[in-house]
Amino acid sequence: MKNLILIFMAAVLAFAGCGRLEKTGRNVVRKTGELAGKGATEFFSGVGEGIRTVTEGQVPDVLTAIATRKSVRKFDPLRKVDDATVEKILRAAMAAPSALDKRPWEFVVVRDPKQLAAIANKLPNSRVGNGAPLAIVVCGTTDNGIPGNGKECWIHDCSAASMNLLLAAHGLGLGAVWTGVYPGEDRIAAVREILAIPDGYLPLNVIPIGYPAENPPVKDKWNPAKIHADRW
Ligand SMILES: Cc1cc2nc3c(=O)[nH]c(=O)nc-3n(C[C@H](O)[C@H](O)[C@H](O)COP(=O)(O)O)c2cc1C
Repeated sequence: MKNLILIFMAAVLAFAGCGRLEKTGRNVVRKTGELAGKGATEFFSGVGEGIRTVTEGQVPDVLTAIATRKSVRKFDPLRKVDDATVEKILRAAMAAPSALDKRPWEFVVVRDPKQLAAIANKLPNSRVGNGAPLAIVVCGTTDNGIPGNGKECWIHDCSAASMNLLLAAHGLGLGAVWTGVYPGEDRIAAVREILAIPDGYLPLNVIPIGYPAENPPVKDKWNPAKIHADRW
C-alpha cells in the first residue's frame, strides 16, 4: 500500500511538470519539466518555440541563459552599466577553465568615449559605434608556460572566458556580441595601438556591452544530425 501511494505521488508530480507552459516574468515563457527532468536534448529542441528572452532583473537559471543568449549589436547609449555589474561580468569571465589552470587572460574595460570612438572607427565590425557605453577587450598571452603547441591554448582559454562573459552579461539583462579581432593582423595591430597592448599579448575579440536597443530572435541551433553515437 505504501508503495502504491509513492507511485501515485510520483505520477502526479511527473504529470504536473511535463511540457506545461509557464509564464515566469514579463517576457519569459518556458516549458516546465524540460529544465528539471527531461535532459538537455529536449530542452534545447524547445528553444525556438518556447523560449523568447529573459527579463531584466531576473537572473535566469543556467540552461535558460544559455538557450536564450543571442548576439545584440545595438545598445541604448543613455543607459550606463555600473561598475558592480561590470565586476560581476569579469568575475564570470575569470571563472572559466584554462589549460593547466594558467589563466592567460587580461581584460581591457573601455569606457572612455574617445577610446570607444577610435575602436569603432578602426573596427566597424566591432559594433562599438552602435551606442555601446563600454566594451571589454579580451586579451591573452602565448607566454603561458606551456611548451610547444600548448602556447596556442591561450585562444581556447580566452574563448572560454569570453563565453562566460557573454552569458553573464545576458543573464544580467545586458546585450553583448563577440566581435573578432584575432587572427586578423590588421585588426590586431589597430587594437594594440589604440589600447597600448604590450608585446607578448594578443587581443582575441572586442565585446561591446550595454542595455539592448534591439531584441533579435533566439536561433534554434539544435541539430541531432551533428551527434555521433560511440563512433563517427
Ligand atoms: C569568433 C567569432 C567572431 C565573431 N565576429 C563578429 C563580428 O566581427 N561582428 C559581429 O557583428 N558579430 C560577430 N560574431 C557573432 C556571430 O555573428 C554570432 O555569434 C552568430 O551569428 C550566431 O548568432 P548568435 O550569437 O545570436 O547566436 C562573432 C562570433 C564569433 C564566435
